[in-house]
Amino acid sequence: MTHPHDSTRPTTRPIAGELAVVWQMVWDRLERSVNQPDAPWREGVFATSRVPGGDPFGLRTVILRRVERDAAALTIHTDARSPKIAQIEADPAVEWLGYDRRERLQIRLAGRATIHRADAVAEALWNESSPLSLRGYLGGHPPGTPVESDTPDPNLPAWVLERGDRLTREEVQPGRAHFAAVRIVVYAVEMLQLDRAGHRRARFDRVPNDPRTLWTGGWIMP
Ligand SMILES: Cc1cc2nc3c(=O)[nH]c(=O)nc-3n(C[C@H](O)[C@H](O)[C@H](O)COP(=O)(O)O)c2cc1C
Repeated sequence: MTHPHDSTRPTTRPIAGELAVVWQMVWDRLERSVNQPDAPWREGVFATSRVPGGDPFGLRTVILRRVERDAAALTIHTDARSPKIAQIEADPAVEWLGYDRRERLQIRLAGRATIHRADAVAEALWNESSPLSLRGYLGGHPPGTPVESDTPDPNLPAWVLERGDRLTREEVQPGRAHFAAVRIVVYAVEMLQLDRAGHRRARFDRVPNDPRTLWTGGWIMP
């Protein structure tokens, strides 16, 4: 049951006034994260639900690869053999956290994830990514596999490491089999701006699983 002062209560009013400015700022910043390598929210924390008896970790840093403002969707790419994929298959509820230390600006996004391996979403992201950003998928072992020796193993053939940023698209192509795009359709957004003059916290919602519904928004207590 929902308590009347519970922060789980979604907002109900259309986004207007100053909140509309915050809303635009959030999506401007997310969009910039994809295009600017040093954008603060580019490397965010991606959270999945842990599977009982499975991998103990449900948080990891991931690079934001695509942002669709109109659909309120984010896309990342990952190894299809990694535990996060099994976690999403078991429960598509995911979250994203970004923090801009300089601006003291935190963003939290909640959404539902879909996994794309062989479809147009995966194909487009593979094609627009640089060979260097795709080389990790050439690993012969699933990520997380214990290393048998006493020294670390990069899970990449030596020739791949030697090629550095001269790697070609053809050379990384065998990694395509391990590549997955994960698209997160967002249904709740929360922004916290720390400020000595008074913190500001805003929350935006739409109905989960129905992206046609309009966003609502409101200020919430920091
Ligand atoms: C700066 C940074 C960027 C990263 N970017 C990605 C990424 O884009 N995709 C990804 O799958 N893992 C990325 N990782 C590695 C993940 O943090 C994580 O170690 C890996 O995906 C395994 O996660 P899992 O075992 O929970 O599935 C990145 C790590 C760091 C430190």
